Amino acid sequence: MTGSRNYFETVAPKWDSMRRGFFSEAVRERAFDAADVVAGRLAADIGAGAGFVTEGLLERGLRIIAVDRSEAMLAEMKNRFGEGGAVEYRIGEAEFLPLEDSSVDYVFANMFLHHVEAPPAAIREMARILKPGGRLVITDLDRHEFDFLRREHCDRWMGFDRPDVARWFAEAGLVDVEIDCVGENCCAASQCGCGAAAVSIFAALGTRP
Ligand SMILES: C[S@@+](CC[C@H](N)C(=O)[O-])C[C@H]1O[C@@H](n2cnc3c(N)ncnc32)[C@H](O)[C@@H]1O
Repeated sequence: MTGSRNYFETVAPKWDSMRRGFFSEAVRERAFDAADVVAGRLAADIGAGAGFVTEGLLERGLRIIAVDRSEAMLAEMKNRFGEGGAVEYRIGEAEFLPLEDSSVDYVFANMFLHHVEAPPAAIREMARILKPGGRLVITDLDRHEFDFLRREHCDRWMGFDRPDVARWFAEAGLVDVEIDCVGENCCAASQCGCGAAAVSIFAALGTRP
């Protein structure tokens, strides 16, 4: 197992409480507003973790397919939301999502992109599963210089430059691309006592024509 896989398998039982220290529910609400979500529709939560985005989508009355590579994270979600209801759980990888082409109304990915090996390929894959008119919203970190996030939380990318993200959306065939501030920082103190990060969070929206 890679360091990142091991990390998420290990932290899964405490991820939801760790997440509360990093950022608030306002992040997902901003994403849902950007996508203009409508109750009853189908969304995919990619890199779903312990279900931060899924929980908010359930509150808004959507059906959700939650995808993550971590068995432990999906087990946490099943404990929280049960099985056989509005949430379906699928093990999957960023580059090979276990969903059909043009099958969902919305795709959300919160704090997922900075963990994947190839962000442009991951965005192409998320665009592939959107129905025509469907919307992708990625919430993630702006570029930063807090190296301890790589060492302590297995981040692969130190955030992103928004023009790069906008270009990857366009290259994935998405239109009406908009990238804006969520209005909240992701905050983390280093375990080594060598720093405290406060990194702004962006919401990137694109629509499949
Ligand atoms: C930082 S957590 C975010 C979880 C959740 N979206 C949240 O906001 O709390 C990143 C999640 O992405 C998953 N992940 C990382 N790389 C992945 C990949 N290449 N394919 C599928 N899942 C991946 C991890 O297992 C982890 O659950």
